[in-house]
Amino acid sequence: MENTAQMNALLETMTPDDPAWELARALDPARLPKHIAIIMDGNGRWARKRSLPRAAGHRAGVEPVRATVETCARLGIEVLTLYAFSLENWKRPRTEVDMLWRLLRIYLRKELPGLMRNGIRLRAIGRLEALPAAARRELLEAVETTSRNRRLLVNLAINYGGRAEVADAVNAILAGARARGTVDRLHVDERMIAAHLYTAGLPDPDLLIRTSGEMRISNFLLWQIAYAELYVTETLWPDFSRAELLRAILCYQARDRRFGGLSQPGEGSVLQEPVSAELAR
Ligand code: FPP
Repeated sequence: MENTAQMNALLETMTPDDPAWELARALDPARLPKHIAIIMDGNGRWARKRSLPRAAGHRAGVEPVRATVETCARLGIEVLTLYAFSLENWKRPRTEVDMLWRLLRIYLRKELPGLMRNGIRLRAIGRLEALPAAARRELLEAVETTSRNRRLLVNLAINYGGRAEVADAVNAILAGARARGTVDRLHVDERMIAAHLYTAGLPDPDLLIRTSGEMRISNFLLWQIAYAELYVTETLWPDFSRAELLRAILCYQARDRRFGGLSQPGEGSVLQEPVSAELAR
């Protein structure tokens, strides 16, 4: 019942001539992913195709962030994790990196009222201590301001690296054991590592989307995506539309998720969902 209400909340924002209309109607509201993670790639290529500076591509990348957050909130997705800046992105020219921090601050100021209105909680994952002071301060303020919202959790992965996250988790476990004087007896298992990741307590991503065609993970959520379904689209991030997001979710719903086991009859087989599979193509 609640699921159908969420689907209606999405359909209310569209008319039947919207390219996303049929896609939204084809979704199974009972089998939505709980957690969607996105590698937002292709801002630079989008700008180059238009003979614009790379900064223009990053600026154009803000609108799809807004639209994706809104659509996920309306659908009732629990967690959306966006890869905004990797540990490796410091290798880019200083001017581009500075521009990305400015863009983050502009985004936070502009979007905060909408995040509050729509019950969206913002969090940041990554080595935030290395951010420029002003960007870090404003980010942490936005995290605090939205901390009591309960609709959709948006994780911004900023100065994030998947290997660094696992290393940070192991060091946190070691520090805890040292403080308790139990290092000699320490035995680390998967549950302990998961409980010390930046995403502790959150469901693992069910669906990982990457834009602009590259077949790579780029050090994103390495631990958490063990069983995520991958969806790679040629679309460049600034062109990533609501229809494209719904197509990715439909494609996810047509997959047979086995988690290393065997198929459950009646669950997620492409043959049983010809409409979804067709639309997702
Ligand atoms: C990848 O494109 C994009 C980034 C490294 C930055 C992501 C930033 C945004 C989408 C802007 C707004 C986001 C927030 C949260 C304020 P690329 O530069 O790697 O593109 P290329 O591979 O075509 O060069």
